Amino acid sequence: MVDLHYEDPGVDILYNRIWGEDIHYGIYKSEHEEIPAATRRAKAVMAEPLRLSADSYVLEVGCGYGATARFLAEQFNCRVVATNISKTQLQHAREAATGTPAESLVEFEEADYHELPYADNSFDCWWCQEALVHSADKPQVLSEAFRVLKPGGYAVISDQIFRPAKLLPDELEAVRDRYHTSAILGPADYAAMIQHAGFELIEHRDWQKHAAIHRRRILERLETLMPQLEAELEPATLERNHRSWSAWATLAEQGKLGFDYFLARKPRKTA
Ligand SMILES: C[S@@+](CC[C@H](N)C(=O)[O-])C[C@H]1O[C@@H](n2cnc3c(N)ncnc32)[C@H](O)[C@@H]1O
Repeated sequence: MVDLHYEDPGVDILYNRIWGEDIHYGIYKSEHEEIPAATRRAKAVMAEPLRLSADSYVLEVGCGYGATARFLAEQFNCRVVATNISKTQLQHAREAATGTPAESLVEFEEADYHELPYADNSFDCWWCQEALVHSADKPQVLSEAFRVLKPGGYAVISDQIFRPAKLLPDELEAVRDRYHTSAILGPADYAAMIQHAGFELIEHRDWQKHAAIHRRRILERLETLMPQLEAELEPATLERNHRSWSAWATLAEQGKLGFDYFLARKPRKTA
């Protein structure tokens, strides 16, 4: 089952106003740093070990509004295929890239990350930032990543990851409800899943403290802009998202919701 959360026009306006073009967490230098500086740093830190160049061919899955694809193309001059199931976000991404230096390097395509329309061994890098959380069949997503990567290619993942062992029964229920799955996986499950897909796991970083700052900053922004949003959005959309963003901010503050990074590589010789 695919998660079409972002196709709701009210949700699209809400994310656009509050998250901007980066629907992902940031890495903060301080508690009070502005969100855009921290989200830009997260992209840069994730790109660091990949040794991207004009020869690299990158597949981004779950590309949101396309800001990371543009960043990669502009920083490294690499070619990027940026994919999404959200037609609304893809349209925004194409428009935002038009006239930028990334325009000739990035293709935005509609594709479900569970079933990618690309040949085996095609890409040097598979990039998935805060998108795996939406899959109820994460092993299938990783198996597709493994298939389309060239031997020696990198998979880089950052994701919002709950700590299921710490969640109270009603918190677990709220998470299951939002993500339409009974399987709520923790960081160790992710590491095991990545290796089970055939990857060599190079690095895992626990960025939980940044999730706590980011969730608080997002909630503060939502509450500041509430009067303006009340005039634009259905009360039910605003109320539902305010409730879950408040809950996620509390869980992040309590160390029950984190943000983790994984770097993995497809072995040069597969068994
Ligand atoms: C939290 S947003 C992250 C967007 C983007 N990676 C970023 O960091 O700004 C999650 C993204 O995953 C996409 N997504 C959800 N399910 C998907 C699927 N089955 N296949 C591809 N993309 C999916 C959503 O449409 C959305 O763009």
